[in-house]
Amino acid sequence: MAHCRVRLEISQLESLNISSPKRNRNMQTGWERFFPYYAGYPEIFVEDLLGSAGLPANSVVFDPWNGSGTSTLVASRLGHKAIGLDINPVMVVIARARMLPPSEADSLVPLALTISTKTPRRVAVVANDPLEEWFVPATAAKIRQIEGAIRQSTVGGTTPPGCVVDIGRISGLAATLYLGLFATCRSLSHARRSTNPTWMRKPRSDAQKTVAPVGEVTQVFVDNVRAMAAELAATEKSKPAVPPWVIEVADTTSTELSPSSVDFVVTSPPYCTRIDYTAATRIELAILAPILPEAREELSRNMVGSIRVPIKEIVPSVLWGRACNEFLKQVKDHDSKASSTYYYRTHLDYFDKISKSLSRISSALRPGGVACLVVQDSYYKEIHNDLPAIVVEMCESQNLRLGRREDFRFNRSMMRVNRHTKIYGRPSVPTEAVLCFEKVS
Ligand SMILES: C[S@@+](CC[C@H](N)C(=O)[O-])C[C@H]1O[C@@H](n2cnc3c(N)ncnc32)[C@H](O)[C@@H]1O
Repeated sequence: MAHCRVRLEISQLESLNISSPKRNRNMQTGWERFFPYYAGYPEIFVEDLLGSAGLPANSVVFDPWNGSGTSTLVASRLGHKAIGLDINPVMVVIARARMLPPSEADSLVPLALTISTKTPRRVAVVANDPLEEWFVPATAAKIRQIEGAIRQSTVGGTTPPGCVVDIGRISGLAATLYLGLFATCRSLSHARRSTNPTWMRKPRSDAQKTVAPVGEVTQVFVDNVRAMAAELAATEKSKPAVPPWVIEVADTTSTELSPSSVDFVVTSPPYCTRIDYTAATRIELAILAPILPEAREELSRNMVGSIRVPIKEIVPSVLWGRACNEFLKQVKDHDSKASSTYYYRTHLDYFDKISKSLSRISSALRPGGVACLVVQDSYYKEIHNDLPAIVVEMCESQNLRLGRREDFRFNRSMMRVNRHTKIYGRPSVPTEAVLCFEKVS
């Protein structure tokens, strides 16, 4: 791994301890092995940043693309008020589960045992159950029984299917049981894993669907919850009470936090590598389907980095900066198939959403506050998408001044695991940049 640095003169950013933002298996801590499909930075990266930032206790730390909730978990642990938003309800469930205090460890296994044998009243029938896209009907029915029982016992009494639940308010226990069920479905359908570790191949025929006896589903679920309970019990019990935290489902392009209410932002925006983030959580979305408000298509369309062509017309803005506009022009002028249509329009959508989100982030940050963003570059054909440079220009038009940049290079990345990506004489290793900005008033 190579590492280089650019420093500008802003004193408070000089003291930040910026370690590698890449998570690998050896660095997995706590419950990370129960959602190993997810790309994010390691806890130590956030610990180093926040620990060196000189923040007073109870500072407000915000992650607008919170993913698996590493920022919110670490910020809380360090005694700060954490706010995490993510558009994907699956990620909000995972992030909320990670906040479960060790004092709850002993109640997990008895709850899992009750839930896996309980036949929920009035909640189990789901018409056209999306779980049946992955599992044979009997296996899907058993998984749905467990989900229905979690819903009935911990989410909302007799909430029937189709009744939307506010995922941003479910308890840590409910989130943890859902996480146990996510891990169960993942391990039962391991044969559907693709070469891209972030998602599973959907069965193309009934013969490819996962068959698991009812007893095995129960056993794997209880075993998962037992392992999670043991892990939780092993964490320090006498931790000071964490300040209040918020982890909610929200679209960062349109959600306003109170102006100047945030002291520190640590986050990583979705990559611009034409990876459908919702595809990585298809099975989990199928599990949650009865309590979700929007169809997966809608969620996929609203994601930053959506692979769907935007419905409305988007025109490039000068506020996106020179690097972005030049990159877009090269994509539009490229002579390969669909460059000037599909690819140009999906890139426009990406930059439009990133720009809107950065504007909201800047408005939420107080003057003098700090924002650290982990941003990866990529290629479209042979055209370099220098996302770190683009984000720097966008931020500068939003009163966020770059004070420090640290670059890390990795041998493995989202860009390189995409089997359909052809290498057009580009460098084989992308750059992951940690960009640190200060809000100027
Ligand atoms: C690179 S990941 C964040 C990873 C995170 N730092 C971690 O360690 O797990 C980007 C996240 O942005 C979320 N996202 C995409 N579009 C969004 C939007 N419009 N509003 C809020 N979150 C969005 C995705 O669901 C994904 O979880």
